Amino acid sequence: MTIEFFARLPLHGETQFIPGDNRNRGDWNRQPHASTGAVSSGEDGDFAYIDYLSQVARAAEINGFAGALLVNAPFGDEPWIVSAALARETKRLRFVDAFHPGHFSPWQATQMAASFQRVSGGRLVWNVIQGGSDGLLRANGEPLPHDERYARAIEFLDLVKGFWNNESFHYEGQYYRADGGGLRGPLAQAPIPVICSAGTSEGAKELAAKHSDYYLVLAESPEHVARNIADVKERAAKYGRADQIRFGVSVDAIARETDELAYAEAKRFFDEGVRAGTVKAAAERSEHMSDTNRERFRRYNGREVNGFEDLFVEPHLWGGFGCIGIPPGFAFVGSYENVAAKIRQFADLGLSWFFLNGYPHLEEIYRLGEHVLPRFRAPRLALAEDQAVPLVSGGGIAARGNG
Ligand SMILES: Cc1cc2nc3c(=O)[nH]c(=O)nc-3n(C[C@H](O)[C@H](O)[C@H](O)COP(=O)(O)O)c2cc1C
Repeated sequence: MTIEFFARLPLHGETQFIPGDNRNRGDWNRQPHASTGAVSSGEDGDFAYIDYLSQVARAAEINGFAGALLVNAPFGDEPWIVSAALARETKRLRFVDAFHPGHFSPWQATQMAASFQRVSGGRLVWNVIQGGSDGLLRANGEPLPHDERYARAIEFLDLVKGFWNNESFHYEGQYYRADGGGLRGPLAQAPIPVICSAGTSEGAKELAAKHSDYYLVLAESPEHVARNIADVKERAAKYGRADQIRFGVSVDAIARETDELAYAEAKRFFDEGVRAGTVKAAAERSEHMSDTNRERFRRYNGREVNGFEDLFVEPHLWGGFGCIGIPPGFAFVGSYENVAAKIRQFADLGLSWFFLNGYPHLEEIYRLGEHVLPRFRAPRLALAEDQAVPLVSGGGIAARGNG
């Protein structure tokens, strides 16, 4: 199976959850004195956070990542807007945008997605989310409870696919109806976005079974990952999609020259988290999580923890970020070789998209790009002398055999 790697764009600052970390960037920094140039001073021509995000996106592309995940954090920047700004600064990078259907109308989302595809050369991927806690969603005007949000999202995607594939689409559902709308002309030629979704509740799995091209999981224990994949595949069979649906995982990485160096970095994150009180805060926040997220938090973080080493789920799989309150919660920790072995172990479970990053994003994208990703690529053959492409003056490259 071909593995593709995706980085992540930090839309809510850099390592903002760890106040002791002096590498914070962006306006979310709790230590203004430690701010970097990524925070605008408001002067004309000054660099701002979007310039940093642009740097991260370019780094991901340069280092061979196929795309980047843009999460929708409660008080972070909006993914679609940011990716639209970055589409023209990148060439191939795919934007996996967190997309909450309840915040849009199906037609508006269809039209926006078609336009995005046109301006980006078809690089939009939707990660259909249902947002964080019920409380937060209610605060922002969401009227529906958890399970109904999924029922509505399934209808929403029925409509998007209907509008995309028909000039005149009719639909009568519980939440939406349509009487003859649909994409026409050049917009209808654009490719529909690849659809991802996550979540382990009934509703989440049903949505993935019917509509998702990729079902995304967290790198919790391999047994849980395998069980969720098998369950979603079985549900997808109802729609004749058991062989079509594919699987991805979001996981952080602390990869270093040796295991010892990687463990030292995990320990630093944990100790700073304890000192800053974020370990306790994550446990308190878990009370407001969805049922399945709370259950997972308790499964891996609910026991007595005296140090970073108590948070290994199994060798080289660390649940410490979840304990500190940093999503996605789990990380592969170890030497470059052992992190690559962990990726292979999870790939063998049926996962082909790996959303892999670390903190700070920019530096870790280079580290992963230089030390981990090449282990999954066929070696580049050095050009033999008789194959060398001669440079011609004027900056062009002469193609061999053209006269
Ligand atoms: C890879 C991945 C990315 C996610 N991104 C977001 C996000 O950007 N914003 C968000 O509110 N939730 C995000 N989620 C959370 C899911 O949308 C969902 O709320 C969560 O998995 C719980 O779903 P459940 O309660 O249906 O099991 C993400 C989950 C995964 C696995």
